[in-house]
Amino acid sequence: MINIGVLISGGGSNLQALIDNIKSGMINAQIKIVVSDHKSAFGLQRAENENIKAVFVSKKMAGDNIQFHNNILEILQHENIDLVVLAGYLSILTPLFIETYKNKIINIHPALLPAFGGNGMYGLKVHEAVLNYGAKISGATVHFVDEGTDTGAIILQESVEVLANDTPETLQKRVLSIEHKLLPLAVKYFAENKLQIIENKGNRTIVKING
Ligand code: GRF
Repeated sequence: MINIGVLISGGGSNLQALIDNIKSGMINAQIKIVVSDHKSAFGLQRAENENIKAVFVSKKMAGDNIQFHNNILEILQHENIDLVVLAGYLSILTPLFIETYKNKIINIHPALLPAFGGNGMYGLKVHEAVLNYGAKISGATVHFVDEGTDTGAIILQESVEVLANDTPETLQKRVLSIEHKLLPLAVKYFAENKLQIIENKGNRTIVKING
């Protein structure tokens, strides 16, 4: 059984979806720790409700982003974490962090990458951008994290229709319900060692799902 560390910044509905799918037996893993960069993140409460260790790590106290992530690394290594899940985590990971957990960090993004991703594309801004562009479909992407923003190898994607009368909030809600399905599924595949990483002609990493 693998040990998961979940990094959050907010509500933690994706964290909850993971918790629920572990409890139901769908995923053979345990969440050893939840780390938040926001003190008041509701996700911390969700973890505590399930008796999962939950900690707030202060960026201010750390001084800078490098020290901050070194502090988080230390916490995760202490818990023998095999997989880091970013579930609505807003801070930018450091190169050392990414290197330490190479191909062991999974992120969920609320759009169909590579569209509507990159710096500054988070939360409602993503859905606003989709609506402003007039895109007719959107969706969710689960991917491995590399040194770029939202550029890592794609594990799973699923689309949702964009409706004529959608607001960023209604679209967000429809995409979230897909996220709650995709993220646990990707974690399940990881836990079962089914994700095979293939360098495609040296310029793009492709994930194959075996079995
Ligand atoms: C989700 O839309 C996720 O795709 C994005 O941040 C949001 C987090 O929502 N990365 P929650 O905290 O899991 O409810």
